Amino acid sequence: MSCISCLAFRQKKLDNSVEEKDNLHLKEKIGGENSSGASSFTFYELSLATKGFKCANLIGEGGFGKVYKGHLSKGQASQIIYIKVVAIKQLNLDGQQGSHEFVTEVLMLSLFHHSNLVKLIGYCSEGNQRLLVYEYMPKRSLEHHLFEPEKSKQLSWNVRMKIAVGAARGLEYLQCKAYPPVIYRDLKSANILLDHDFNPKLSDFGLAKLGPVGDNTHVSTRVMGTYGYCAPEYAMSGKLTLKSDIYSFGVVLLELITGHKALDLTRKSGHQNLVAWFRPYFNNKRMYAQVVDSRLEGNYPPRSLNHAIAITAMCLQEDANRRPLINDIVVALEYIASKSIRELNKRLESKPETNPN
Ligand SMILES: Nc1ncnc2c1ncn2[C@@H]1O[C@H](COP(=O)(O)OP(=O)(O)OP(=O)(O)O)[C@@H](O)[C@H]1O
Ligand SMILES: [Mg+2]
Repeated sequence: MSCISCLAFRQKKLDNSVEEKDNLHLKEKIGGENSSGASSFTFYELSLATKGFKCANLIGEGGFGKVYKGHLSKGQASQIIYIKVVAIKQLNLDGQQGSHEFVTEVLMLSLFHHSNLVKLIGYCSEGNQRLLVYEYMPKRSLEHHLFEPEKSKQLSWNVRMKIAVGAARGLEYLQCKAYPPVIYRDLKSANILLDHDFNPKLSDFGLAKLGPVGDNTHVSTRVMGTYGYCAPEYAMSGKLTLKSDIYSFGVVLLELITGHKALDLTRKSGHQNLVAWFRPYFNNKRMYAQVVDSRLEGNYPPRSLNHAIAITAMCLQEDANRRPLINDIVVALEYIASKSIRELNKRLESKPETNPN
């Protein structure tokens, strides 16, 4: 689901018929393939799992509702045989749009499965209640780790590159392995969830769209997404292509490199939009050490930083056709990540052993 900042986009009144057609297509596909779909839960079961949606179980809140930690169990009180920790999102249904996004999320995540996409365990659609049940991601979102001051120290350069590789693989699956390809439309650090070992998973598919097939180059749609992450040509024309997601991916890479938010109204004028602020630095390697996240305290291989910034610059090209393909991005990031690990090992080996006494 997308954040409050994008609600202004949502106000644009546009035709719903394209999206309804998409959902029909998805429903047919799910019906036609015996997919390992999500289970249906009753509201009572989810209420039990969260102890009545108790505040203590609240783990977050986005523009579309509250997210609770819950425990699903099977069996009788005296003989509980199975407990699973889950995250349960309770949607504030804001008319038709919220309901549409709920259906899209369930259909997309029932159809598409990959280790870098969050797993949908089930849903509840009872009366006017709409809830989604996901696998629980113990380290929450990348946004949480990058932008909460006490957390960001945990994100070493290698962990950042690992997250970039995993997120790119998730996107590669959507763009190259899913058919028709899927345009995610809401790629941002808040939607990259992390497991206990910082493996990333893309979440929130309520805005996703089936991409163009055959000779078509784009799909036309209402402009939705989150300020700061939206590709400029899509924001202006509503023409959505796979390259729109590549731009958003470039913004996430820039957040990982600089530790700044895509849009930060607390920064001084000229620095608030991350991409606009960073653009003059792309061709100025001598400045890289000054614009990289200072919380890394210089602990990154300079060549890896140069490569990561070069990939980011390509993803953020104004001309969408010149942005790279996701499979090339995956290969390039995998190379950076493996080189960074080798460099780190070399440094550790060359460090003189410290005497514990
Ligand atoms: N599966 C999950 N496991 C653990 N925490 C989660 C899970 N899903 C969401 N969260 C947490 O709940 C919070 C709210 O998530 P949600 O997707 O509703 O909003 P958002 O992505 O932050 O913003 P928005 O959806 O409005 O754009 C997130 O900060 C995330 O940390
Ligand atoms: Mg989200």
